Amino acid sequence: MLEDPPISSANHSAATPQIRCALMTPKPDGDPDLRSASLIGLILTQYHEPHRRELPQAIALARKVEAMHAAEPECPRGLADLLTFMLDDLESHQQREEQVLFPMILAGGSPMIRFPVQRMMAEHEDVEAQLLQLRTLTQDFSHPPGACATWRALTALCRKLDVDLREHMQIENQVLFAPFLD
Ligand SMILES: [Fe+2]
Ligand SMILES: [Fe+2]
Repeated sequence: MLEDPPISSANHSAATPQIRCALMTPKPDGDPDLRSASLIGLILTQYHEPHRRELPQAIALARKVEAMHAAEPECPRGLADLLTFMLDDLESHQQREEQVLFPMILAGGSPMIRFPVQRMMAEHEDVEAQLLQLRTLTQDFSHPPGACATWRALTALCRKLDVDLREHMQIENQVLFAPFLD
């Protein structure tokens, strides 16, 4: 019998709608530099760090489910490999945001900044394609009736990753990056 693994996201889930609301509502008289700095801080704590923690959790759960339920038709075969690919891809993307693009934004931008911004936005489209694969492999983020605790936890975590990654990219594209494409 597998233990019911914890999903370390309760606080984040509760905070997300408020944070999203605050981030998506521009303050007309706000200092743009301060606004970018606080936005980047929130992106790091509410999205980058949780993704780094939760994707490995999802991979471990998927490996267990694929091993334990290999003979069942609903088994999400290939899910652990997809999540591993997503983690590797996202880690590279987030590192370049943290080490190159976010410091450029905090420094007030540069004449060349539109190129890394466009690159990051193109990579977001790649993530959206990965999320479609995730939805397909998890059968619209569902599990069979009577599924074990591990499978239920995997489904919940994959659904959370989908929501969080879409919010993360929407905030970057529409709020943080958009001013540098004018
Ligand atoms: Fe990001
Ligand atoms: Fe990004």
